[in-house]
Amino acid sequence: MPAKPTILVTRKLPPNVLARLARDYDARLNDDDHIFDTDELLERARGCQAIVCCSSERLTAETIAGLPAEVRAVATFSVGTEHVDLAAARARGLIVANTPDVLTDSTADIAMLLLLAAARRAYEGERMMRENAWAGWTPTQLLGVHVTGKRLGILGMGRIGQAVARRARGFAMEVHYHNRARLPEALEAGALYHEDPEDLLKVSPFLSINCPATPETHHFLDVRRIALLPDGAIVVNTARGAIVDDEALIAALESGKLAAAGLDVFEGEPNVHDGYRALPNVFILPHLGSATHETRDAMGFKCCDNLDAVFAGAAPPDRVA
Ligand code: 8YV
Repeated sequence: MPAKPTILVTRKLPPNVLARLARDYDARLNDDDHIFDTDELLERARGCQAIVCCSSERLTAETIAGLPAEVRAVATFSVGTEHVDLAAARARGLIVANTPDVLTDSTADIAMLLLLAAARRAYEGERMMRENAWAGWTPTQLLGVHVTGKRLGILGMGRIGQAVARRARGFAMEVHYHNRARLPEALEAGALYHEDPEDLLKVSPFLSINCPATPETHHFLDVRRIALLPDGAIVVNTARGAIVDDEALIAALESGKLAAAGLDVFEGEPNVHDGYRALPNVFILPHLGSATHETRDAMGFKCCDNLDAVFAGAAPPDRVA
C-alpha cells in the first residue's frame, strides 16, 4: 500500500473531520488549536504534501513563496478565500480549494437571526433579564422596528445572499439586491436588481451584506454611503468585517442615523472595535455563521474530498486556484 500523504491541519477541526483525515492521511494536527504565525506555519509545513487551513491563517504571496516545494495543495476550511493570495498560488502551481454551498444555509440563518435581533432589540431585552432588571411588562418597553413586510437590500446576491432572500420572503419582505452581475430571472425570484450599489442603499431600510471581501469592497460601507441609507435603517453583516468602516458604522449607530446593526464578522478578528461593545443597539456574535455541527462537518468533508481528488490525480471539485 502506498504511504498516506502527509498533511498539515492548522486548526482543531471537528472530531468527525479529524477522524476522516487521520484515516486517510498522515495528518499533523494542532491539538491546542493555537494560531500559527507565518514562521511556525512554514516550519510545520515541511514534509507535507498539503495543508488544511482556516481563514485564521494568512497565506500571503510571501508565505506561499516560502512554502516547502513538496506542498502541492491547500484546502481551506472556509468558503471565503480572502486570506489566500490566489494569484500567488496560481503562479506557484499551488492548488487551492474552498468549501462552497455547505455553509450557505447556516450563514443565512445567522443573517436572519441578526436582522431580527437587531430590529427587535434582543440584546437589550436579554441583558435586562439576566441583570434581573425587568420590572414587568409595559406598553412602551423596548419597542423595536417592525420587520415583516419591509424592504431588504442584499449586497452580494451569491449563494448566501440568495438564501437570505429566501428566508426574507418568509417574512414577506420585499427583496432588492446588487450583485456584480444581474441574476437570471429564475434566481432573482422577484428580487429587484440595482446595477449601482449606491442606488440599493437609498431604498434599503434593512441591508444585509453578503458580498466577498475584495479590494473593491474594502470599507464599502463608509460615512458617505451610510448617509445614503434611509434614516433609521438596520445593517446586518455576515460576510466580512473589512467591508464596513467600523468608525463610520459606530458613529451612525450613536447618532441614531442607523437604528441598529447585527454583526457576525469584524475587521481584524478576533479584535473587535471597542465602540461596538458599548452600544446597546448592536447585536454582535463571534463569527458563528457556519457554526453548526452539521455545517462544520460538511465543510471538513469538503476539504477531504478536495484533497482526495488531488492525491488521486483528479480535479478537486471546489478548486479556486
Ligand atoms: C468559517 C467563513 O467558519 O467559510 C467562511 O468563509 O467565514 C466561516 O464560516 C471560517 O472562515 C473558518 O475558516
